[in-house]
Amino acid sequence: MNILVINGSPAGDNSITLQTALYIQKYFQKHSFSFINAGRSIRQIEKDFSESRKAIEKADLLIFCYPVYTFLVPAQLHRFIELMKEAGMDLSE
Ligand SMILES: Cc1cc2nc3c(=O)[nH]c(=O)nc-3n(C[C@H](O)[C@H](O)[C@H](O)COP(=O)(O)O)c2cc1C
Repeated sequence: MNILVINGSPAGDNSITLQTALYIQKYFQKHSFSFINAGRSIRQIEKDFSESRKAIEKADLLIFCYPVYTFLVPAQLHRFIELMKEAGMDLSE
């Protein structure tokens, strides 16, 4: 299964939350994992959503991985979900 982890933390590769996803990756070695640092790279992703679109289309499973910042998901992840909607992505299958 192709699993795409969408990391909402602005801490990017240094994210504590991401370590949980990396643990899951180690635990489920038969599956293929890829990662998008949506929190860290949101400005770049806003300019060009094509790589994210490809990664999402290829995925069988999306994992949204994020810390709580001020009682909410990070605004960068919220923006990423907006971009998914703006791109008209169909996640129904
Ligand atoms: C500005 C800021 C706001 C935070 N707000 C909350 C919060 O409202 N509730 C909570 O439980 N933790 C809060 N935290 C703690 C983070 O969720 C926690 O440090 C988390 O492990 C950070 O994960 P990351 O390294 O993946 O970004 C906050 C941390 C920061 C820096």
